[in-house]
Amino acid sequence: MLAGILSVARRNNPRDDITGALICRHDLYLQLIEGPAPAIDALYSRIQADDRHFDVRLLLEEPMGVRLFPGWAMLDDEAPSLFWSAQDVEAGALETARPDELRAPFVRLSKARPAGIG
Ligand SMILES: Cc1cc2nc3c(=O)[nH]c(=O)nc-3n(C[C@H](O)[C@H](O)[C@H](O)COP(=O)(O)O)c2cc1C
Repeated sequence: MLAGILSVARRNNPRDDITGALICRHDLYLQLIEGPAPAIDALYSRIQADDRHFDVRLLLEEPMGVRLFPGWAMLDDEAPSLFWSAQDVEAGALETARPDELRAPFVRLSKARPAGIG
């Protein structure tokens, strides 16, 4: 299923000037999407309507001068070292996390994998 999502993302995102990263864990997808606002809005609407997941939440929306993942149509990371346990997530930890805490796993990931073809 993940392969299917990534294959579509890697086809559509370069077309839409979108880059980002998708962190996958058994209990959640945590995705950072960067690009022009209208393109992000359109993508977010498609993602919300996608029945391969449920309970989609927008955790943080902010202007970014510089992209974290300029070389990635959609980087995927399936072995994330997230700060939050599955129990934390279940209890709503992502909703109460500060912006810098939400950014942190992506900042780490962008440093670990600076450029790619995905
Ligand atoms: C967790 C998740 C992340 C996704 N990320 C993207 C993405 O970055 N780009 C994208 O085009 N579709 C993404 N999708 C798929 C969209 O929901 C949708 O199926 C797709 O954009 C439809 O593209 P199409 O109209 O070209 O078939 C994602 C889906 C899920 C479940």
